[in-house]
Amino acid sequence: MTGSNAPIGVFDSGLGGLTVVRELIRQLPNESIVYFGDTARVPYGPKGEETIIRYSQDIATFLRKQGVKAIVVACNTATAHALPTLRAEQDVPVIGVIEPGARAAVAASRDGRIGVIGTRGTIRSRAYDKAITALEPGATVTAAACPLFVPLVEEGWLDSEPTRIVARGYLEPFTHGKIDTLVLGCTHYPLLKTVIGETIGRDVRLIDSAQETAAETGRVLREQGLQATGSDARYRFVASDDPEQFLAVGQRFLGAPLERVELVTLGV
Ligand code: DGL
Repeated sequence: MTGSNAPIGVFDSGLGGLTVVRELIRQLPNESIVYFGDTARVPYGPKGEETIIRYSQDIATFLRKQGVKAIVVACNTATAHALPTLRAEQDVPVIGVIEPGARAAVAASRDGRIGVIGTRGTIRSRAYDKAITALEPGATVTAAACPLFVPLVEEGWLDSEPTRIVARGYLEPFTHGKIDTLVLGCTHYPLLKTVIGETIGRDVRLIDSAQETAAETGRVLREQGLQATGSDARYRFVASDDPEQFLAVGQRFLGAPLERVELVTLGV
């Protein structure tokens, strides 16, 4: 059995899920966390469903071996493809980012005209469309994949002219009053909030699912009596390749210094 002082396992295809860790630390400061970033196999966005399910199973098995009491799938693409499989296979709660993001979008939208941007895999899966219309059947969802945003963020080109040009191209279908709310359906996009906000217009609300996912994690832990009782939270960061790069770039996503990153190789 896993006790309530066991860590929460969080995973992503790489560094981006640290934006979710940042919110978990802010909202649930007593919870310990083991984070796995699959830097050897990033990006997940262009890959097929079966591959992403296999990668996610590898990581969930690794996290369970670390004794985690719950698993947060911080990656939108992994949530879109692998959440039902992980929920069926794992004996701990598994929380994804899409339902919480959809809920936040429906709550924020004035009249149900909601846009969603994400990786090709996330958009192709239509997971956000389904989650949003399940909550609000009258909503109209406009979705677009923005694959170039991920490498721009990885390069640190957050507020730069090339990023603005790419944003104008991708966000054109959402302009001219088409939507009132836009879901940033990818771990990396919250770091482009300034450019996306300027391109799309100040009257469109931007939804970052990290906050809502952390709140949902807190709710699940409370409901299941799994809240940590101590106040000595510990954090472990694990990457499947190039821990030095993870250390160098990770703090941009985490918003705090990172001291150590372990290297663990999984699968192939
Ligand atoms: N973590 C992925 C997501 O949120 C973005 C990066 C990737 O393509 O692996 O969809």
